[in-house]
Amino acid sequence: MKRFMMILAAFSVLSTMVWAEDGAALYKAKCAMCHGAMGEGKVGPSLQKTSLSEKQIADLIANGAAGKKAPHTKGVAGVTADQASAIATYVASLKK
Ligand code: HEC
Repeated sequence: MKRFMMILAAFSVLSTMVWAEDGAALYKAKCAMCHGAMGEGKVGPSLQKTSLSEKQIADLIANGAAGKKAPHTKGVAGVTADQASAIATYVASLKK
């Protein structure tokens, strides 16, 4: 039983690590070219200073918002809702 609990604990630590890494990797692949490697801003605005909440960021990436510039008119291409929330969690961690 003890051994089972340890395996379970190890697995849950591992899965949160993979999850966090996923958001970072997706950010690098799909956002960094416009928002900078650390979200410091480039073509796009700084994400370290955004006033949007994690939830609003996830919504913007997944669904976009009318009146925003591309690629945020309709949501960033090829990003699923699950990926959007992983990316938003990562972006929120970059905030200063
Ligand atoms: C082609 C360049 C480009 C890419 C790729 C891009 N963005 Fe943007 N992003 C912009 C621009 C430009 C704006 C400003 C849009 C506007 O206000 O109309 C913006 C705005 C934003 C905002 C709103 C900031 C604020 O404070 O209002 C967030 C959040 C954001 N982007 C996150 C992301 C994330 C996360 C990704 C990756 C999934 C991403 N962006 C990909 C260019 C880009």
